[in-house]
Amino acid sequence: MADQPIADVIAALRAQIDQWNYEYHVLDRPTVSDAEYDGAFRQLRELEDANPELVTPDSPTQRIGAAPESGFEKVHHPVPMLSLSNVFGREELDAWAMRGLRAAGTSELPFVTEPKIDGLAVALTYENGALAWGATRGDGTVGENVTENLRTIRSIPLKLRQTEEWAIPERIEVRGEVYMRKADFDRLNERIVEAGGEPFMNPRNSAAGSLRQIDPKNTAARPLSFFAWDIGYIQSGKRPDSHFDTLMMLQAFGFRITLDPKRESSVDEVWDECQRWLERRDTLPFEIDGVVIKVDSYRLQEEMGVVSREPRWATAFKFPAIQKTTVLEDITITVGRTGTLNPTAILQPVNIGGVTVRRASLHNEDEIARKDIRIGDSVVVQRAGDVIPQIVMAIAEKRTGNERVFSMPEHCPVCGSETRRDEGVAMRYCTNTSCPAQLREQLYHFVSRGSLDIAGMGSRLIDRFIDLGWVHDAADLFTLDYEQIAQLEGLGEKSATNLKASVEIAKERPLWRLLNALGIRHVGERTATLLAKRFGSIDGLKQATVEEILSVPGVGAILAQSVYDYFQEPRNLAVIDKLAAAGVSLADQQEESTGPKPLTGLTLVLTGRLADYSRPQAEEALSSLGATVSGSVSKKTSAVIAGEEPGSKVDKAQQLGIPVLGDVELAAILDGSFDLTLIGKE
Ligand code: IVH
Repeated sequence: MADQPIADVIAALRAQIDQWNYEYHVLDRPTVSDAEYDGAFRQLRELEDANPELVTPDSPTQRIGAAPESGFEKVHHPVPMLSLSNVFGREELDAWAMRGLRAAGTSELPFVTEPKIDGLAVALTYENGALAWGATRGDGTVGENVTENLRTIRSIPLKLRQTEEWAIPERIEVRGEVYMRKADFDRLNERIVEAGGEPFMNPRNSAAGSLRQIDPKNTAARPLSFFAWDIGYIQSGKRPDSHFDTLMMLQAFGFRITLDPKRESSVDEVWDECQRWLERRDTLPFEIDGVVIKVDSYRLQEEMGVVSREPRWATAFKFPAIQKTTVLEDITITVGRTGTLNPTAILQPVNIGGVTVRRASLHNEDEIARKDIRIGDSVVVQRAGDVIPQIVMAIAEKRTGNERVFSMPEHCPVCGSETRRDEGVAMRYCTNTSCPAQLREQLYHFVSRGSLDIAGMGSRLIDRFIDLGWVHDAADLFTLDYEQIAQLEGLGEKSATNLKASVEIAKERPLWRLLNALGIRHVGERTATLLAKRFGSIDGLKQATVEEILSVPGVGAILAQSVYDYFQEPRNLAVIDKLAAAGVSLADQQEESTGPKPLTGLTLVLTGRLADYSRPQAEEALSSLGATVSGSVSKKTSAVIAGEEPGSKVDKAQQLGIPVLGDVELAAILDGSFDLTLIGKE
């Protein structure tokens, strides 16, 4: 090799390492010793270090890149990533196939079966054979650009293999599943538990968490795998005629594809194959939660089409939950962000379907009492798909008399304050709103994906900030000292800069995210969205009466009271003031707010079924034009708009002499052709 130009030596080393990687990570058939592999890898790295101009992004040394400067960008999927319908038994499978036959207008359907690995779907785009970018499924339309993290997964080829049969297309989007093998998952959890952390509940969660690490170095340290199950689209290249041939093509391009896909010609065959997978499931190195059944021919797939984001040409046969017996060693209490005391079962570790289960959820004290679960009991535990393991029942016959009946603590296990259980609710609460456990959980929630989504601000970092005394409430997250952070062990300049960038982005998030982030009891993403739409700003909501909050469609009495109470609490108001002072946006940039608001000053009440709008649509449209939409008729009401089968509101309006309008008038109000002076507008 000494006489060859350096570029050729480098190319030869890369080809060799790529081949070894492929054999090891895709074929599961290593052909060299670790030492030999490491030697070649080191040699390549040294040559590249000495000749940086020869480094290319598809070199095997380039799997770990830099963290994105400002969190993950959004990626729009050119072809939506659909989801799958489910069937749970033979009858449902038959019914699905019957509907398919009818839609396709044929008497027979060619199927392909393949195992359903429980991970998360991603789309990888290759341009001229090189991995250009990759994204998570997200909501199916928009995902996140996690290219740098995907590049660290060894079973994802950085470049496609040349094949005789298939030319490399200009652009191809390959879809598949990122997952974690059972053994890798167990080992990772062991490490986490040893380090005193919370283990992941299942391989799917741990794969998802690992792929969303802001620094690719962290993802690289997590043992993730990938298999391909379809293509999204091909540009300037031949597309096979069937799903099975697509899998063969992907295999030829160098992907690991779903294990043992099979063509079947009848539902009987499909069902037999489902049963075979069910029997094999425990012996597989990865978790499968069912079998995916697809119609093979693309022509038929097209004829069958898609209904509500689920293709008619595919479905998943979902396996039943697996149950095992173990011993309930203890019940521990964690304190949630709203102060709830959550009982968790600590189990004698038990292998359920190849995964070690150490904990199970117990929901609340009533549930424990109802199932008569005692500490020391033998219990039946079940795991299904990606849900948290559950205790099905205690085996009373196995009792020895040493079991202990559990009762919820009267004092918070974290801060020692009294706990309380209100009438009509199942949960017990810690009464101390500044309980450190609540703060921790509140902050985890505050930065989480459905809230302000601060990339890189993980639970461990939050724990450190709290322990260092740097953070006492959510607002403190916006006034961190990044120079100090850069000095923390394991962080450094780069991580501190990245963190700062994500925190800056979080300041400008839409209002619903902030409302969700605040952790107001009973407010989730959905209600936060409704409240944000209606009130437009924290200030608006702060000033709202219970009645006004209650008038938001979808908001009930308990929720309205809870929102109202939240804004009466001086501690909460202080945090909000601090957020504002730190530059966090407390209002939505509403375009309408600069637009005309012809209905300002009018208070309208809707009742009955409207012809052209749903109630929320009508309310939103009216309030965006400046009207106040109220839930009840009073002297202040300008008009009642009544659809079909109106309630007593019309009677009340008539008693008070308030105009009652209908669908036609509503349409006219919204398109601006209604004479507003008729309902008292000056
Ligand atoms: S095909 C329209 N094939 O299951 C078809 N999905 O529940 C879309 N999955 O989002 C999916 N193994 O994340 C397909 N062999 C397989 C799969 C598979 C696992 C996942 C995938 C998908 C989800 C749907």
